[in-house]
Amino acid sequence: MLNNTLFIEAKKYIPGGVNSPVRSFNAVGGTPFFTAKAKDHYLYDIEENRYIDYVCSWGANIVGHANEYVCREVSDVLMKGLSFGTPTEMEVCFAKEITKLLPSIEKFRTVNSGTEATMSAIRLARGYTNKKYIIKFNGCYHGHSDSLLVKAGSGLATFKNPSSGGVPEEAVQHTIVLEYNNTQELIAAFEKYPNQIACVIIEPFAGNMNFVRPTLKFIQILRKLCTDYKSVLIFDEVMTGFRVSLSCAQGLLDIKPDLTCLGKVIGGGMPLAGFGGRADIMDNLAPLGSVYQAGTLSGNPLSVAAGLANLELIQKPGFYEHLNTISHMLTKGLLESAAKHRIAFCSDYIGGMFGFYFRETIPQNMSDMAQGNIQIFNSFFHKMLKSGIYFAPSMYEAGFICATHNVDAVNTTLDLADAAFAQIASDLL
Ligand SMILES: Cc1ncc(COP(=O)(O)O)c(C=O)c1O
Repeated sequence: MLNNTLFIEAKKYIPGGVNSPVRSFNAVGGTPFFTAKAKDHYLYDIEENRYIDYVCSWGANIVGHANEYVCREVSDVLMKGLSFGTPTEMEVCFAKEITKLLPSIEKFRTVNSGTEATMSAIRLARGYTNKKYIIKFNGCYHGHSDSLLVKAGSGLATFKNPSSGGVPEEAVQHTIVLEYNNTQELIAAFEKYPNQIACVIIEPFAGNMNFVRPTLKFIQILRKLCTDYKSVLIFDEVMTGFRVSLSCAQGLLDIKPDLTCLGKVIGGGMPLAGFGGRADIMDNLAPLGSVYQAGTLSGNPLSVAAGLANLELIQKPGFYEHLNTISHMLTKGLLESAAKHRIAFCSDYIGGMFGFYFRETIPQNMSDMAQGNIQIFNSFFHKMLKSGIYFAPSMYEAGFICATHNVDAVNTTLDLADAAFAQIASDLL
């Protein structure tokens, strides 16, 4: 079947034809392709087109698609049963491994999605502090639970503006949305609500407004404010966890959050996420404490087997050096090529996560990102897709590298990008 035909069929039975909105190509226009299979850093669609994949299942795939070791480990547990609803030894090994890799995590609880992890971490922070307000930053995405679907406005004035239908004003009335990297706004929020902020949740490197780094000053002040005001600092590392480095964003930034949310890479493509942190906070969860949190399929053996296998592979010597080398080569090559064609462009990366922007300077926040040239991005996206390179289908998404991306794949990408930039430059004349 053709992609176009299947998309028409899909729309008859699935809202928008997709099970998660960004897959629909709404932001860039056109028809999404339907993947039939994937191997290493390639996706193959139902028309047998091959794409070099820089989306990597939105960051979940870090070892390469259909990695043989991961597949073998998952198949080994497959025949023993899919879910038991009792504790398993593997879950203990998994939590132990996470606490070994991330010293800020003393105890860890497994869930099925990043949304569940952040939602549960926020409930826990509220239960632990007995405070109501939460701070998030414009452009950071923490899943789709009600209290986090808030429109940004002007700093502290931002209340009661749900960003989604179906979310009542009451559900977001205790959510404060601030600008990323804006230290003044952050200090002002704590001064305005000194004893009421339960937690601050942040993507320590943002990946949902494209890739945006925090300034060191901003993140250090954030840590200090949370300590001084006895608010829980939650690092949402669902995207950055084990993607930017083996010590995650918190290791690179040398900041110890109170709670950390993980997802994506820890399941390597299976529905596995979790949250963890200080034992004195985590022990407020049921059955020990009063904060309720549960899941029928939490810690199911298939997901945990995939997770354990992924955690093993990412600890091999040279793993993150390779990701950094490839990300560097790709982002530098794109920058040089765009400059050659006099296209306003810049790029950034860390570990296996990168961003490129059709603007002169590296963005610091969502307002900067929104000034990127969306027409040029969309044109570049489609030209690349047509030639077999799959970048994320939105100007507001980061890109991802996996272990099998190599110099050949990057050189192919850069040759095709150069042709796309040349065409865009001539269209602009
Ligand atoms: C930083 C961050 N947090 C939370 C989520 C939600 O995770 P999930 O889609 O698994 O619910 C995402 C998803 O992209 C994310 O990037």
